[in-house]
Parts: sequence; C-alpha cells; structure tokens
Amino acid sequence: MGCGGLVAMTMVVRVVGLLVTMVIMQSGGATGGVRESLIKPVVEMRCESINGTRKREFVTRAMSFKPGTVHNLFFFVDAPEGRFATRDFLAEMVLEDATTPVPLYDTYLHHWLMYEYAVPKNDSDAHKHDLMEELQSDPLGQLKVSARHKDRKRLTEYPGAPDTWFLIQQFGVGAETRHTNTKMPAPYGFEGGDRFGEDYESVWVLNVHAIDTRGAISRMSCTECRCDVFDFNKTGAVILPEGYHGGLACCHDETHCLVKNEFQGETGMKLARNLRFRYTWSWTPWDECVQPLTNVRLDVTEIGFGEQLEYEVGACESNDPNDEVCIDTKVSYQRSPVSGPLISAVGHFHASGISASIWSKDGTLLCESLPIYGQGHSVGNESGYVVGITSCWPPADTGVPYYITKNEMLKFVVKYSMVDGPHTGLMGLINLKIATGRTGLV
Ligand SMILES: *[C@@H]1O[C@H](CO)[C@@H](O)[C@H](O)[C@H]1NC(C)=O
Ligand SMILES: *[C@@H]1O[C@H](CO)[C@@H](O)[C@H](O)[C@H]1NC(C)=O
Ligand SMILES: *[C@@H]1O[C@H](CO)[C@@H](O)[C@H](O)[C@H]1NC(C)=O
Ligand SMILES: *[C@@H]1O[C@H](CO)[C@@H](O)[C@H](O)[C@H]1NC(C)=O
Repeated sequence: MGCGGLVAMTMVVRVVGLLVTMVIMQSGGATGGVRESLIKPVVEMRCESINGTRKREFVTRAMSFKPGTVHNLFFFVDAPEGRFATRDFLAEMVLEDATTPVPLYDTYLHHWLMYEYAVPKNDSDAHKHDLMEELQSDPLGQLKVSARHKDRKRLTEYPGAPDTWFLIQQFGVGAETRHTNTKMPAPYGFEGGDRFGEDYESVWVLNVHAIDTRGAISRMSCTECRCDVFDFNKTGAVILPEGYHGGLACCHDETHCLVKNEFQGETGMKLARNLRFRYTWSWTPWDECVQPLTNVRLDVTEIGFGEQLEYEVGACESNDPNDEVCIDTKVSYQRSPVSGPLISAVGHFHASGISASIWSKDGTLLCESLPIYGQGHSVGNESGYVVGITSCWPPADTGVPYYITKNEMLKFVVKYSMVDGPHTGLMGLINLKIATGRTGLV
C-alpha cells in the first residue's frame, strides 16, 4: 500500500488507530465541545499528491433577469481535463462583467447543483441532446429526474450495459455558498472526469436556480417560493397537493415573483440585466494518493416513503426567533447506505433555519451545523439571509474521524424558527462526506 511510483517524492504515513480514541469535534456552536467515542480501527493513509491542487474559474453564459424573473437552467459546462479529484467548489452570481458579485437580496440563489454523467462516446451529441431535453422537461427541475437517474444507475455499474447516459454523482448548495466551507483536504476528494473506459465520456451539467427579487412585494415570499406571489399556473395545468403553500412547484423556470407596481413596465425594463454564474473549481490530477469520498445526502423529510425534499412550518408570535416555544423540530432516523470514516458534514437549510445535527447510533453528536446570518447590506453579509453554514471537521488530518458503519442508524434533527411564519419551501438536508474509497451515488 503506497503511492506507487510517487513514493520517493512523497511522505507516506500509516496510522492505525486501534483502541479507544478521542474525537474532537468542531461544531462551532454553543453546544459544541469535546466528546469521547469508541472508534473502530481506522487505517488512515496520508499521501501528498506531487502536483498539488489546481484552480480554475469558469462563468456560464449570460442569463437575462428583470425584477421577478425566475430561472432554473441547465448548462453543459467545462471541467478540468483528464481524471481528477475535486477538492473544492466555490460559486456565486455575478454581473455580466463576470466579476462584480450580486447580493442575495437582489438575486436569490436558491440552489446550484453539479451533475456528472457518463455519456456514450458513439453519437454523443445525440445523447447529450436527449439528456438536456429530459432535464429541461421536468417542471420541478432536476429533482424527480435525478431520482430516476439514480434508479437507472442502481441497475448497472459502468462500464458496460446501458446504451444511454447515466448519472454518476451530484453535489451543490444554495444561497449559503459564499461562506460555507466545502473543502476536501488532501488526500480526500470527489473523483471525476475520464475514467469510464472507451465507451463513455464524462459530461458535466450545471443547474442554477435563481430568483430576481428586486422590487418584490415581499422578498422573503419570493425566496420561500410562496405560491401566492408566483404566476406558476400560466398553462392552467398545475395541480398542487392539498395544503401546499409554497415550494419548487410554484417557482419553477420562467415563473415570475410579484413585484411592486412601480417596478413593472418601464422601470422593470430599465432594470433588465444579464447575470452569470461564476464558479471556481479546485482539483488535483488523479493519482493513487487520492482517497475518494462518497457524498451521502440525508433529508429530514425522508420518513418511510421517500424524501419530499421540501416542507413547511407554521407561524408563531415572538420577538425572539430562538424562543423555545417557536421552534419546529423534525427528527428522522436513517440507516447509512455506506461504511467509512466521516470526513466532513454540512447542513443545508433556508432562512429561519436554526440547526442541522447528526448523531451516531450510540448517541454521540457527530456534527451540529449552524447558519451564519447576514447582518448588513453588502454582498456576503445580507441581513436576514443565510449567508453561510458551518461545517464539521475539515481539515481531516487534525483528528480521527468517526467510522460510520453501513446500516448504522443515524439520528438527524433539523430545527427551524416559526417566528414570522408560516415558512414554505424549507429544506432540511445534511451532506456527509464519507471515505468509502469511491465516488458515486448511493
Ligand atoms: C505532474 O507534473 C509533472 C511536471 O509538471 C507533469 O509532467 C505530469 O504530467 C503531471 N502529472 C499529472 C497527473 O498531471
Ligand atoms: C454508433 O451509433 C450509430 C448510430 O446510432 C450506429 O449505427 C453504429 O453502429 C454505432 N457504432 C458503434 C461502434 O457502436
Ligand atoms: C390552474 O389553473 C386551472 C385552470 O384555471 C385551475 O383549474 C387550477 O385549479 C389551477 N391550479 C392551481 C393550483 O391553482
Ligand atoms: C455585517 O454588517 C454589519 C452591519 O454593517 C456589521 O456590523 C458586521 O460586522 C458585518 N459582518 C461581517 C462578517 O462583515
């Protein structure tokens, strides 16, 4: 076990943790601290890639926005060459100049997601065309589609059988992207790029969902996708489930959020502008040092019948958003689909979120991920918005990670404040990066 030909130029350290080990957790919150846990033997290999990390900035083509515009768009995008390990991925909305950042209160970045597909090389343009059509045809965006692709992926492993494209991995976050640490310190990373043999190529698709809330009657209603402020039923064909007040079904692509009268017409035209999505990809060319991570996304709404992704909470009168009586707590128990050391964890929730926490089977708090709320009126510090979410554990080499066992029952808890509610279109997710030795969907 080593780095093959690279051994001479790198330092290889094997650490075998055998007995009881202290786990140091960085939860960043009032309830954080140092806890003890029984750790299974972990073989940790440290191995520096000689070529180091590279970084490249990309921008999408321009998207045109007016006050109220909603875009939920998919783009084929460039990626690093060859086979590589993603180490980090930063993103934000910028003006057409590809430089000037746009504050969340003007254009709310609901989410961005990167998908990697394996596409047959033979006739690849036709396959890519089909793939894009399918992604764009789903009124709820990528959500159902990706679930379907996931099933397809389960049926067969590459290389081989299917003669069509299939989803390999996905990662992404939302408005919190500017101040959320998504780094995967060496030797860890998401495997990506050329590795599917002669028959398939790696193709990346970016999904950006953004809402222009300049001049909105209620900015928060727009960002929460409340049905009463969107023209989601232009075709007259939309039927919503009983009691559905907001979510992706109401702020899908090409809908508009209601803006004040003075922002419509002429003023709205004057405020028309082009924006781009800019992202900075950090990666290391592939070598044997890389320890691939699997991204396990838990959804607190997954209670028996598959995830619903979004939910809503009621209203509560109080001056203090953290008032105990005004906190909605969702608890779910889920089995880990994989085994491996937990390298990092970070929650995803929307404004009015309080925390996302995950516990091991024996009740050890593995991570409490907390929102960072903006307090000002500048980019990255937008008052009332979740501008960042704290993560647990990077860098990985400062402690011994907790070893999650396949089928281990994990407890996942998400808390929202009901103050200023009801709140709709909420999400309660946590992304666990687990060193399984492979990257892919689970
Ligand atoms: C690493 O860098 C060396 C020297 O620049 C280069 O020759 C080699 O191709 C690089 N390896 C990879 C995997 O990029
Ligand atoms: C490539 O695709 C074309 C059209 O679908 C088909 O006729 C041809 O047999 C394929 N070639 C190979 C090598 O699979
Ligand atoms: C959408 O419009 C149709 C036709 O006007 C109407 O029957 C239906 O109830 C509307 N759906 C919703 C969710 O309002
Ligand atoms: C955000 O803005 C507020 C008000 O101007 C300021 O007090 C605070 O320090 C800012 N926060 C950061 C992280 O810059």
